[in-house]
Amino acid sequence: MARRRVWLGFGLLAAALGSLQSGPAAGAEGDAFNGRLLFAQCRLCHSLKAGETKVGPSLHGLFGRRAGAVDGFDYSPGMKDAGIVWDEASLDAFLKRPKAVIPGTKMVYGGLGRAEDRADLIAYMKQALKK
Ligand code: HEC
Repeated sequence: MARRRVWLGFGLLAAALGSLQSGPAAGAEGDAFNGRLLFAQCRLCHSLKAGETKVGPSLHGLFGRRAGAVDGFDYSPGMKDAGIVWDEASLDAFLKRPKAVIPGTKMVYGGLGRAEDRADLIAYMKQALKK
């Protein structure tokens, strides 16, 4: 039993590495599996469950929502006044360089440099938030 789990783990790892190597070939849709691995860094500060606040606000219902709109979360003024609605394009720009899109943001995260990684991450978030 334990042995089987190790092999399953190895299989998942191999799949993950494969998707990292495939690069842009992963397609415009993004690779949600790689995105799930990337989301581990976001998970430190964000939950996908409604009403669960960590260092950052819950990302539940993110797509189509105005930036800075989770009730009771103490956003930076920049985020509250950003006038952004979160969709694939605005999220992509924000995740590339948070400080460039929202000056003075409280989100301490340098940014995700690779476009493919951002596409994968967004694909995962869309999938995970649909459930
Ligand atoms: C160190 C903690 C931290 C990490 C890591 C982090 N965030 Fe954040 N995030 C925050 C905080 C704090 C805010 C509120 C920012 C503000 O008010 O300026 C925020 C805001 C956001 C928002 C806007 C939410 C809204 O309600 O408008 C999104 C989207 C977001 N983060 C996505 C992500 C994603 C995706 C990742 C992973 C790549 C990530 N964050 C990593 C802390 C973090």
